[in-house]
Amino acid sequence: MALKSLDPVFAHPSESEFAQILDFYGVDWEYEPRSFPTEWDGERVIEMFTPDFYLPQMDLYIELTTLKQSLVTKKNRKLRRIRELNPDINIRLLYRRDFHRLLAKFGFGPLASSETPMLESVMFGTGQIAERTAALGREISVDYADKKPILVGVLRGVFCFMADLMRQVSVPMAVDFMSISHYENDDLGVRITKDLDVDLGGRHVLIVEDIVDTGMTLNFLIDYLQAKNPASVEVCTLLDKRARRLTDTNLKYVGFEIADEFVVGYGLDYMEEYRNLPFIGILRPDAGEAANGAQK
Ligand code: PRP
Repeated sequence: MALKSLDPVFAHPSESEFAQILDFYGVDWEYEPRSFPTEWDGERVIEMFTPDFYLPQMDLYIELTTLKQSLVTKKNRKLRRIRELNPDINIRLLYRRDFHRLLAKFGFGPLASSETPMLESVMFGTGQIAERTAALGREISVDYADKKPILVGVLRGVFCFMADLMRQVSVPMAVDFMSISHYENDDLGVRITKDLDVDLGGRHVLIVEDIVDTGMTLNFLIDYLQAKNPASVEVCTLLDKRARRLTDTNLKYVGFEIADEFVVGYGLDYMEEYRNLPFIGILRPDAGEAANGAQK
């Protein structure tokens, strides 16, 4: 999250707005953290330039600017000078309209807050998800070398994660999907609406989930799949909302442990919406009653 311990007083409203956008996308920032000398009179520094922001995750300094051409020209000249004197520094002059485009380029977008009105913030950007998924894929590839695992996905929320995860697994594997429905307000429990097509006898099964919440779904699935005599059954979940767990479930691979927030995007829905967001966001608490209850 943003490094706001100093609680800066912004010199300009657009800087405060930029900071809010960075917070929304979960991008760390520092306000005016460093001044670069640009002119000297002998040993004495007579001119300095202080970029507005530094974004540590991108190792990037940002100077915001308006459309006033005289200021842009002057700032551009200063930035050129800083680059000459500090060739290793990444520094960009940014117009207001470029905010979102820049963030999208670094995997934190691409949607403006106005296009996702019910979201409070982004929890994991596309870059973070991809990085973590690649790491999980590497671990699975090592653990399952020569085991030819079968990855079993539980529809529908898992389809984005499964598609990305399986492409990070570098050993031979198979994939299959199940679909289940939850009976609500009675005690009939979980019902299978689409069963597996592959025989699991003697196979190494890796259940893949987008999120484990109460753990009830997984509990049911593990029992169900164990009865098919596989060689092993393990679980890989992108998100682990441990705070809401009702069952004792062993998760071998976890992407991110998350707090008790209602999350959407990257396959996860709220009333069937938001599955198409390329990042995982937190739904605003006022987006509906369900946001305060179970992640269903
Ligand atoms: C989600 C998720 C898990 C289940 C986890 O599915 O994909 O299967 O909830 O919850 P639990 O740990 O409390 O049992 P959901 O029922 O939302 O269906 P979907 O995947 O079709 O969106």
